[in-house]
Amino acid sequence: MRWLWVIGLLAACAEPATSLDAGRASSAKACEDCHAEEAREHARSAHAGAFTSPLFAREWALAPSAFCARCHAPRVANALDEPELAARGVDCETCHLDGDTVRATRVTGTAPHPSRVDPALATTDACRGCHQVDFPSSPGQALQDTVAEWEAAGAPGGACQRCHMPRAGTRRRHDFPGARDQETLARALDVRVSAAHDGWSTQATLALEAAGAGHAVPTGDVFRRLVVRASDDAGGERAVELGRHFVFSDGAPWRPLRDDRVPAVGVREVTLRLRGRASRVRWAVEHWSVPPETAARTGLPRETLHRELARGALDVPATDGARAP
Ligand code: HEC
Ligand code: HEC
Ligand code: HEC
Ligand code: HEC
Ligand code: HEC
Repeated sequence: MRWLWVIGLLAACAEPATSLDAGRASSAKACEDCHAEEAREHARSAHAGAFTSPLFAREWALAPSAFCARCHAPRVANALDEPELAARGVDCETCHLDGDTVRATRVTGTAPHPSRVDPALATTDACRGCHQVDFPSSPGQALQDTVAEWEAAGAPGGACQRCHMPRAGTRRRHDFPGARDQETLARALDVRVSAAHDGWSTQATLALEAAGAGHAVPTGDVFRRLVVRASDDAGGERAVELGRHFVFSDGAPWRPLRDDRVPAVGVREVTLRLRGRASRVRWAVEHWSVPPETAARTGLPRETLHRELARGALDVPATDGARAP
């Protein structure tokens, strides 16, 4: 009996993606059937939604391209021909299968499938192919720059897996917590805030440091933004958007304008000036999947595109120029 489904699995693995699906339909065991915990975690990960996430789906509908499918539907040669397999996004097979063999960091010898140790799976090389890439139209201009940010900073925090596949007993979590996980997001930055009167205005200064991230914050997609806000009790508010800013022009490559994200190493200081001499200042740092005004145009629920990273309030010392500790 055992060998029956093992053969089914082997046949499934040995052939390209289509026959694996055919194998599934004819009751061959899929990874998910035997690795329930990994499967449950993976199902709620961004990887599982790489092709179906509403933001990606919007862009894909406008301009489907093989370039995008390479990372968002890595299992298929042509995502338009194989929509079901494309919808699996970045799945178990994408990261673990090498021909008919399962790649692993440790081999127990008890698996009903061939496995081999691949040390690269425990390193950043397992992530590089998708998390580092240039604009196809502009070689040298990064579209995804996370791995280079991490390398340039001296590999803070160790390999990506250390933070994004935290240990759960002897296993590693497969939901890949990142910016869309409130706990992980809350760890990303150290925020130090001071406020002082300056003439007839109040100046709030936020010093942001990426102490809990291995890369710039926000990292990843080019449209990610941090919004830094300060407000007073009288309803005055100031905000800035930190991110990678580009100049768009039809047909031509995007031209980088500036990158004012919180760097992987060092401090990003943001100063916000409120009108009037406030006695108390509230502040907030928010992570946005796309800039706020773009978010409003997508028609997608705001809470799926926006999350709070940190917030607080402080009293402003009464004297001119004085700074709170
Ligand atoms: C019929 C059940 C079954 C199927 C199907 C299956 N596995 Fe396994 N796998 C096991 C068992 C049992 C082990 C031994 C360790 C354990 O109990 O988790 C194992 C071990 C592993 C390991 C650790 C390395 C090793 O050999 O000990 C990895 C990684 C793995 N499987 C990935 C996969 C992936 C990816 C797929 C789909 C392509 C898959 N497995 C399909 C049952 C299965
Ligand atoms: C984005 C890549 C990626 C995807 C997708 C992925 N894995 Fe893994 N998996 C890894 C890496 C990396 C490790 C090893 C981590 C380490 O030991 O440093 C691993 C480890 C494992 C292990 C060993 C035990 C453990 O949990 O650490 C099993 C079993 C496993 N994966 C099964 C699966 C299954 C089943 C799926 C699909 C539901 C899946 N993986 C999807 C990258 C991935
Ligand atoms: C085959 C391509 C591919 C590989 C390999 C890959 N990723 Fe991803 N990853 C993606 C895509 C695509 C997304 C974005 C999905 C989305 O947002 O819809 C993503 C998203 C993520 C996120 C974002 C989670 C969030 O909630 O915001 C993290 C973290 C991540 N990957 C970590 C890793 C790590 C660590 C590895 C290596 C062990 C890895 N990835 C390997 C393609 C890949
Ligand atoms: C020291 C811990 C740490 C390390 C190491 C680390 N990250 Fe992260 N990562 C974070 C935190 C915290 C966030 C949330 C803040 C953010 O989005 O920048 C994050 C966010 C992400 C996101 C989500 C971006 C989004 O917009 O949803 C991706 C993708 C990602 N990391 C990939 C990687 C990759 C690839 C590596 C390895 C080169 C890596 N990370 C190394 C902590 C880490
Ligand atoms: C080399 C791999 C790669 C290629 C090629 C690629 N992407 Fe991505 N994409 C990623 C990764 C990795 C992320 C996740 C980073 C993050 O979470 O910030 C991502 C995130 C996204 C997101 C955000 C999804 C969400 O749910 O928040 C969109 C939208 C997107 N990509 C669109 C595209 C489009 C359109 C193309 C083709 C023009 C494309 N990507 C090409 C790797 C790639």
